[in-house]
Amino acid sequence: MTEVVHTPRVFSGIQPSGGLTLGNYLGAIKRFVDMQESGIETLYCMVDLHAITVWQDPADLRHNTRELAAGYIAAGLDPAKSILFNQSQVSAHAELGWIFNCVARMGWMKRMTQFKDKAGKNAENASLGLFGYPALMAADILIYHSTHVPVGEDQKQHLELTRDVATKFNHDFGVDFFPITEPVIEGAATRVMSLRDGSKKMSKSDPSDASRINMTDDAETIAKKIRKAKTDPDALPSEADGLKERPEARNLVNIFAALNDQSVDAVLTDVGGKQFSEFKPMLVDLAVEKLSSISTEMARLMNDPAEIDRILGEGSNRARAIANPILQKTYDIVGMIRS
Ligand code: TYM
Repeated sequence: MTEVVHTPRVFSGIQPSGGLTLGNYLGAIKRFVDMQESGIETLYCMVDLHAITVWQDPADLRHNTRELAAGYIAAGLDPAKSILFNQSQVSAHAELGWIFNCVARMGWMKRMTQFKDKAGKNAENASLGLFGYPALMAADILIYHSTHVPVGEDQKQHLELTRDVATKFNHDFGVDFFPITEPVIEGAATRVMSLRDGSKKMSKSDPSDASRINMTDDAETIAKKIRKAKTDPDALPSEADGLKERPEARNLVNIFAALNDQSVDAVLTDVGGKQFSEFKPMLVDLAVEKLSSISTEMARLMNDPAEIDRILGEGSNRARAIANPILQKTYDIVGMIRS
């Protein structure tokens, strides 16, 4: 079998299942922008089919999809440079997702920690879609023969599964068709933690709004949440090692580093020895400076939903032009008649 070399292509997605958090921004969107500027072809999706694996009110889903698109654009994704679209407009995702449902194994899915977390104690009552979620995610990525996927740390297991699906498909059919995708989990903020509890991930589903910074928060709200963020009584250390047993301190330093495009070590060189009473106002200034222009621009874009829909329609056309030939070839490999 000759080895196929796949040209680099970046894909990633976010669920339009609620507001965007600082975790989504630092762990994902900000990295999407970096990759867009690297000159590689980039596709960024609003994964609405994934969102409905748990109940979504239809009007909210529509609003959240547009707001997510507005967040992408306000943060620096340019529809002329990146392909921006919502998943359900490109039916090849769902079609390849079905084929991958037949490639992936029940045992693989049962090991997925995100399913266990989301289904909770009542797994019998979770949707079948939630169980099969990672197979559709593999399809999102592989329908474009994507080679690189920027995500936060919580998606690592899903990306390993994507590699397993590609490997099994290639092996079962004796082809070298799907690439073995590289996760790109880099930077200072691959896992932004709750502002109220350094052992919990910052999440849109946390019942406490004070636990997260929302991308729609205004300057005053951002400042209030950072001032109230949990810390410890000690001064900041001068080296990253000193943050090991201090999850809340580490989280705030990571956020500072990611917002300021610095390494954690560089931040600590500047702020080592300072108390939180000094560091927090620095973080407030930085966060407000970097985030308030994004929320203002999001609000402006949301005034023209027709323009957002137009951008998503155009992105979907471009995405389909890449996905459809790969889907046809997949059907052919599997043995489906195309006449
Ligand atoms: P979702 O919608 O939960 O999160 C979107 C992205 O944000 C990252 N993220 C975080 N990063 C750092 N710290 C946090 N606290 C934090 N919270 C969220 C996530 O890691 C993710 O990168 N399954 C995906 C959506 C998806 C997808 C895909 C991603 C569907 N198909 C294909 C990549 C490729 C998800 O639930 O993301």
